[in-house]
Amino acid sequence: MYVSDCLGVNEKGHLTVSGCDTVDLAKEYGTPVIVYSEDQIRQNCRDFVSSIDENYGGNGMVLYASKAFCCKKMCRICKEEGMGLDVVSGGELYTAIDAGFPTEKIYFHGNNKTVAELVYAVEHGVGRVVVDNIFELERLDKIAHDLGKKVKILLRIKPGIDAHTHDFIRTGQIDSKFGFALETGEAMDAVVKAISFTNIELVGLHCHIGSQIFDIDPFELAAKVMLEFMADIKQDKGIEFKELNLGGGFGIKYLKTDAPRPFTEYMKKVACVVKETCKALNLDMPFVLIEPGRSIVGAAAVTLYTVGAVKKIPDVRTYVSVDGGMTDNPRYILYQSKYEILCANKANEERSETVTVAGKCCESGDLVQEWAPLQKVEPGDILAVLSTGAYNYSMASNYNRVPRPPVVMVKDSKPELAIRGESFSDMVKNDL
Ligand code: LLP
Repeated sequence: MYVSDCLGVNEKGHLTVSGCDTVDLAKEYGTPVIVYSEDQIRQNCRDFVSSIDENYGGNGMVLYASKAFCCKKMCRICKEEGMGLDVVSGGELYTAIDAGFPTEKIYFHGNNKTVAELVYAVEHGVGRVVVDNIFELERLDKIAHDLGKKVKILLRIKPGIDAHTHDFIRTGQIDSKFGFALETGEAMDAVVKAISFTNIELVGLHCHIGSQIFDIDPFELAAKVMLEFMADIKQDKGIEFKELNLGGGFGIKYLKTDAPRPFTEYMKKVACVVKETCKALNLDMPFVLIEPGRSIVGAAAVTLYTVGAVKKIPDVRTYVSVDGGMTDNPRYILYQSKYEILCANKANEERSETVTVAGKCCESGDLVQEWAPLQKVEPGDILAVLSTGAYNYSMASNYNRVPRPPVVMVKDSKPELAIRGESFSDMVKNDL
């Protein structure tokens, strides 16, 4: 019935997350609040891990892309589930280290890592630095030299794939700020340069073609293109890389009508392409990595708000205002992202109205959703926006000095605070 297995409705007609009554959670923790099903997150992690084991015979690893939702609790879950981690900033790296995440299983991404970030990463022995550009390659070689270390790296390659998704989240094509282009010869030049450095060990390649992708074909194509490039390198330079990181990007269900293919199907099909291409090109099977973010956490959370003002503008529309908005979910204002919304305390009632759910910021564009079906609501009702687990909290802001909401995780029907909500005093804590 819903976009995620962890959702249900109890005998009171209230929406539940992993069996926990969301109306009770709203009372206990206040609103807005983001509620995750830890059970669902762990199940997703396990499904990915067993899928990579099955399809690559254990010769691979799942890295959780922590940009989707990063906090110490999430890092601990990934550690316990035997996964690695993709981090993209000093802050994400710090969170992982602070949570006790094994640094050798951390892959450090980013198109403009600072000297301080690279030094921090090298000092803590991160598993791989995924190098984005020549400037970074030179910078990293020097840093490694100064610290007396040899750093294992991957090169980020743009395989020239045009995955059909929102423009802002497409990254595999030539006009992208990320990585080295294949078509122009830039990628081969980077390989030549990387192997000439003595403080760096180039162990493989990485690509990521975009996010919220439903088709499997672009992933298959990307794997093929990357392996063909590896074969070219083997032929021209006599080097055979051991690692291939195929990135993340698997689409999830935001609307009931969304029909993403199960990622197990993706894993199977891509693994087939990898095996066949390796055979055809006479390459050894590389160690394969994937980096799911959204598909681990996206559909595993809901955001709960309290309805405030309901403004009916005759012949125009009805605005239902809530106590959060673009500060905890900027995805509508950024990408016009679609969400299912329902009244958590009237979850069994029909969604008979069509409304615009508005946030509380001083910004006309601060909308959570327009023209959304919703039950007839009144002030004090609890609204639930579904599938808000990825790129919501992690992209939250303090615009209008609105404190970030708390994050709760439900495991075995028991809620536990994972991130405290911010207070007004947090809003001024860095002010001088
Ligand atoms: N690996 C790399 C190198 C990435 O850049 C990303 C996402 C991922 C993995 C994880 O992709 P996922 O499995 O989550 O699709 N803020 C946007 C999404 C930006 C994605 C950035 N990179 C949104 O809210 O839709």
